[in-house]
Amino acid sequence: MESNYEYKYLSQIYDVCKSSFWDNYFIRINSFFTTPPKRVLDLGCGTGLAINHLNCSPNHYIGVDASEAMLQVAKKKFPAFDFQLKSILMFNQAREFDLVLSAFDTMNHLLNINDWQKAFRTARHHLSAEGYFIFDVVTQHDHQFNWPGQVNVTESNEWLYIQKSEFDNEKKIACLKNTIFLKEKNFWLRFDEEIHQISLPISTIMELLRYEDLECCQILDLETGSAPKNSSTTILFVCKVKTN
Ligand SMILES: C[S@@+](CC[C@H](N)C(=O)[O-])C[C@H]1O[C@@H](n2cnc3c(N)ncnc32)[C@H](O)[C@@H]1O
Repeated sequence: MESNYEYKYLSQIYDVCKSSFWDNYFIRINSFFTTPPKRVLDLGCGTGLAINHLNCSPNHYIGVDASEAMLQVAKKKFPAFDFQLKSILMFNQAREFDLVLSAFDTMNHLLNINDWQKAFRTARHHLSAEGYFIFDVVTQHDHQFNWPGQVNVTESNEWLYIQKSEFDNEKKIACLKNTIFLKEKNFWLRFDEEIHQISLPISTIMELLRYEDLECCQILDLETGSAPKNSSTTILFVCKVKTN
């Protein structure tokens, strides 16, 4: 299994439920740029939430995602932008970008280490000499200790979203079990879908990056903006092309 990227039902309520993630994310990313990055490659772009924050122009943005449902939402919101239905692992164009981004757990969706390596290769291949590759990962600590048994419920008049998280200790795979009820006339329709994730130790991620000639200039706890601790839940990696 390369990754899991259905998001068939979650896509319909994704922006309402998840867009607050970007408030903090944008503050962290923004601090690395004196002027906003002009050319942006958004790997695992989802519904295109990055566009609102990064102020990119349609000519200089490419969003790549393997979920048709997520891209449908993105295209509706940003019809002038270039969204490509493709796996990150297959994306290959003769273009360079000032920012290659893989935001909000996208890397964790790749379910084996070889695919992480391929994704880093994609990022490196499209990164300009002065550009930044920025991505975040959910930590092993979070998957293992915080996810098991966690339940979040969000609701509106039109939908109800129950998110249960689990961790399979044997396979080392984390799972989000999404149950979504959508109101249709006088009925509630129920949809279920699962999203799987893995996490890797920071040292392994650093090794994979080095192998692809990517230099990690900063690693931050996404929440605090400080150096990561053992208890950190999400870590932000900021990388550049390695110079000798
Ligand atoms: C949690 S969402 C993040 C979306 C967006 N980056 C954001 O900040 O809201 C993860 C996204 O990664 C996409 N994804 C997962 N594996 C992928 C792959 N191999 N290639 C392309 N997209 C992938 C999913 O379809 C989903 O849209």
